[in-house]
Parts: sequence; structure tokens; C-alpha cells
Amino acid sequence: MLTISDKKTLREQLVEWHQVGESVALVPTMGNLHKGHMSLVQLAAEHAERVVVSVFVNPTQFGEGEDFNSYPRTPEKDARQLKRAGVDVLFAPTVEEVYPFGLENTTRVSVPGLSEILCGEHRPGHFDGVTSVVMRLLNMVSPNFAVFGQKDYQQLVILRRMAAELHMHTKLLAGPTLRDEAGLAMSSRNQYLSDSEMLSAPLLYATLSDAREKLLAGGADIAAIEKAAVKALAAGGFEPDYFSVRRAGDLSQPEKAGGNLVIMAAAQLGNARLIDNVLVET
Ligand code: PAJ
Repeated sequence: MLTISDKKTLREQLVEWHQVGESVALVPTMGNLHKGHMSLVQLAAEHAERVVVSVFVNPTQFGEGEDFNSYPRTPEKDARQLKRAGVDVLFAPTVEEVYPFGLENTTRVSVPGLSEILCGEHRPGHFDGVTSVVMRLLNMVSPNFAVFGQKDYQQLVILRRMAAELHMHTKLLAGPTLRDEAGLAMSSRNQYLSDSEMLSAPLLYATLSDAREKLLAGGADIAAIEKAAVKALAAGGFEPDYFSVRRAGDLSQPEKAGGNLVIMAAAQLGNARLIDNVLVET
């Protein structure tokens, strides 16, 4: 595995692959890799001959007072895992490499509407940071495929919209959410949880699964399901930001159950803000 931190060396490698007709899949990450990330690496390898994983803690997607400085950074461990998985290139650029004109007054990519609802309402500017960095990474790597997790469902929908609207050539692939045995979705931010919070954390997925069962049973009132879920989470020690049933394609609010839905939730538990979702085909 090659570890590359500059655009020029990366391009030379990409040209080599391009000349022999090899396809490339990119897995963008912020590092501190866990099994969820590694499942996306696996998916990437199933689709392309060459796999590039980027590790870049993107400053523009963290709001003021958020955890940019304390975000867990484990570069050596990440590199070992990626090497073991047979990744071809670990792309670990500096902030200057990704944002050569600085972070102020920099060109931004924004997907309005979708970026301001749900998590966007609670983290203003967050998704503009995500789209702005993913666009840059995709332009730096020009991959045939880019792989993202359903775990960050709103991010996925926003990136799909960006790719479609901007006529991008890269095909986006989505991988399912990996969970621990208790059902908690794997996340770098789970390590902010204390031992007792770790025991409460699976309630988020349990509440989502419960809501899913109610929707599948039919005849359920969506508003009542959402309200009961918020109450259950608050009783379990969470401070919910939202619990919402949406249409899976465009995150609009359905009047009644039917078609492809997604139930999305975000809630604070101690020092961690947890997000999760489940898909429902009614
Ligand atoms: P990060 O949180 O590191 O996640 C990188 C990718 O891993 C994302 O596509 C995310 O959805 C996926 N992922 C996270 N937890 C997962 C799990 N439990 N199961 C499956 N996939 C999981 O998301 C980001 O970084 C950033 O916003 C990024 C897209 C890299 C832009 O900076």
C-alpha cells in the first residue's frame, strides 16, 4: 500500500492505472477506522480493480464548538488496517492540499433544502462542508466509484443529489450500516460514551426498529409513532434532536405510510451526538 499526501504523486499513480484500463473506487473517510468503514472498503474492492481510501478530518464540516480538535485521530492504526485489507492507496492530504486557497472565502458546493433539514437544522453549515470536501476529493481522485455508508443517510441523499445535479461521472455506491452485537451503529464518536452510556446507547436502534415494526404493521399514525419514540428516548436518558419518518428518496415528509421510507433519528447521549436510521419498504 502506498501512502500519499499530495495531489501530484496521487495523479501520477492514477495515470498509471488509467493507462492499463484499471478502474478506481474511492472511500472517503475521516479516519479512526472501524468495521463499518472497512465494510465500505470491501464493497469498493468488489466494484473496482484499485481502491483508494482518503483519510481527512475536514475542518469545514465542523461547526463552532464542535469536536474538530478532539476528533479521534489514529493514523498508524488506520494505515495498518487498510494495508491488511489490500487497499492500494491511502490518501492522507493536509488541509493546505485540499484547500489550497485557504478556508476563508473558499469555493463552496451547497445542496440547498436537503442540507438545512434534520441534522442540518441542528448543525448549520455542516452539509455544505461535506459537499465542499467530497467534491474536492472526487476531483482530486476522479474515481469511477465512490462509496458511502447508509449510516449517514442524509449525507448520502445530499451527495447523490449533488452528483446528479452537477453531472458527475463518478458512480456513488452505498453500503449498509454495521452494528455491534447490541445493535449500536458503529461510529468513531461512540468512544465519547461512558460505560453506563454504552449500555443505554442501543436504545436508539431499538426505538427505530420498534417504529419500523409499527409502520410495517400498517394503519399507524406517523406523528404518533414519532412522538412515542421521542418520549421513549428521553426516558432512556437521551436528548433527542429529532425522530422522523421520511421518504427514502428525497427526505420529504409522507402524509401516510407507503412506498420506500426511512426513519431517521439524532440524539445526544452524554458527550456523544448519535445518529442512526432504518429503511422501511412498506
Ligand atoms: P466518516 O464519519 O469517517 O465516515 C466515512 C464513511 O463511513 C461514510 O460514508 C459513513 O457513512 C460510513 N460509515 C460510518 N459508520 C458506518 C457504519 N457503522 N456502517 C457502515 N458505514 C459507516 O462521513 C464522513 O466521514 C465524512 O462526512 C466524509 C464523507 C468523509 C466527508 O468528510
